[in-house]
Amino acid sequence: MAVSTGHAHWSSRWTFLLAAVGSAVGLGNIWKFPYEAGQGGGGAFVLIYLAFVFLIGTPVLIAELSLGRRGQLSPVGSMREIAKAEGRSSWWQLVGWSGVIGAFIVISFYSVIGGWTLGYFFQAMGGFSGYDAAISGENFQSFISDPLLPLLTHAVFMAITVFIVARGVQKGLEKAVTTLMPALFVILVILVIYAGVAGNFSATIDFLFSPNFENLTPRRVVEALGLAFFSLSLALGSIMTYGSYLDRSINVTRSAITISAADSAVALMSGLAIFPIVFAFEGLAANQGPGLVFVTLPIAFGQMPLGVVFGTLFFGLLLVAAITSAISLLEPSVAYVEETGALSRRNAAILIGGGAFLLGILTAYSQGDSFLSDVRLFGFDLFGLKDYLTNNIMMPVAGMFTALFVGWFVARKSMLAELAMSVRAFRIWYFLVRFAAPVAILFVFLGLLFGDDF
Ligand code: PFF
Repeated sequence: MAVSTGHAHWSSRWTFLLAAVGSAVGLGNIWKFPYEAGQGGGGAFVLIYLAFVFLIGTPVLIAELSLGRRGQLSPVGSMREIAKAEGRSSWWQLVGWSGVIGAFIVISFYSVIGGWTLGYFFQAMGGFSGYDAAISGENFQSFISDPLLPLLTHAVFMAITVFIVARGVQKGLEKAVTTLMPALFVILVILVIYAGVAGNFSATIDFLFSPNFENLTPRRVVEALGLAFFSLSLALGSIMTYGSYLDRSINVTRSAITISAADSAVALMSGLAIFPIVFAFEGLAANQGPGLVFVTLPIAFGQMPLGVVFGTLFFGLLLVAAITSAISLLEPSVAYVEETGALSRRNAAILIGGGAFLLGILTAYSQGDSFLSDVRLFGFDLFGLKDYLTNNIMMPVAGMFTALFVGWFVARKSMLAELAMSVRAFRIWYFLVRFAAPVAILFVFLGLLFGDDF
């Protein structure tokens, strides 16, 4: 059963793939992956991250795409209609709600970091000459503590996202990704080549690809699965919404594998662009945490020949990657509101984007020594709270229920018909989605919840 609403569709398999890869490739790959790999000690973290991407993330990606394609509605509508068609409780639509609300919360802080990227893009054009660790750290602190800049850049970033989403699937999303994604790829290749020539490439290969399991604590394992989910854009309704713009001629399984492969390739390439620079300069540390790209790299860009060019390219890359992910975070709630008929797409995008902007102000002013930075709720600052709620609670729970739904509550033969895989491939997928994914996610969920005890 496919519910038909006659809503928009991708104009080709290629534009769909670009959009889905655009959603997957983002701050998660270029900002978060390198610093978590750096903190996780390199090779061993990378290896289990990749295992999670392909063994747990990809089967769930296949599940989400196929649910969206079958439902042809927003995540809320698709889950509701498919549950009904399968004779299951209407409570399953809560999975869709969790996605829509979770994506709304994530876009509110994703846009703040997108704004930092925008700010650094302009700073990079002016160059970072003379930067050492102290100056760079101070520059970052003063940027995020400024009363105006984080707010302004957050506003501009959100406005760009709203503008693209308001224009719709073909005129907005597709047009943006068909120009931005090739640009992203070209910039990344240039940066890897540059890092290979000018940086310490052999130390990087050693660091990223020779696993040393001693550094791998349970906490890092848990982090690797969380990152695999975040990086593949799972459990927030984005992929399900993008799946709903697919028609039945597209092979969901092959698409999911392509998306996962491209996403992992970009994460690895980001590592290959960043670590050679980190290792080539005195005093830069691979394990320095979230400040890695904002604090560490400017020091290197300030010292290297043509640093202005490469710094601008790097932050431009990060900005492009963030925008194509941000549109996929706004899309689920806009698709939902549009579907209810309450508002036009344009008005829904403006209203929801505006709401997310307001919610994001809390994030922007909770950093550095801004006026909300001392506010604590349940022991978190206002940024940490949203991050914890979405990444550690809503995403694992929704991801687990998505896997359980397709694995145990949708008839096997419906899934077989939907996925058009060979029987052997189907068996592997079915096993992973019924057993491996829920168990692994449960483990992560408990690990993240009680993370401090690791
Ligand atoms: N995958 C994006 C990244 O790696 O930055 C972030 C993201 C986008 C997560 C969309 C979830 C999502 F639904």
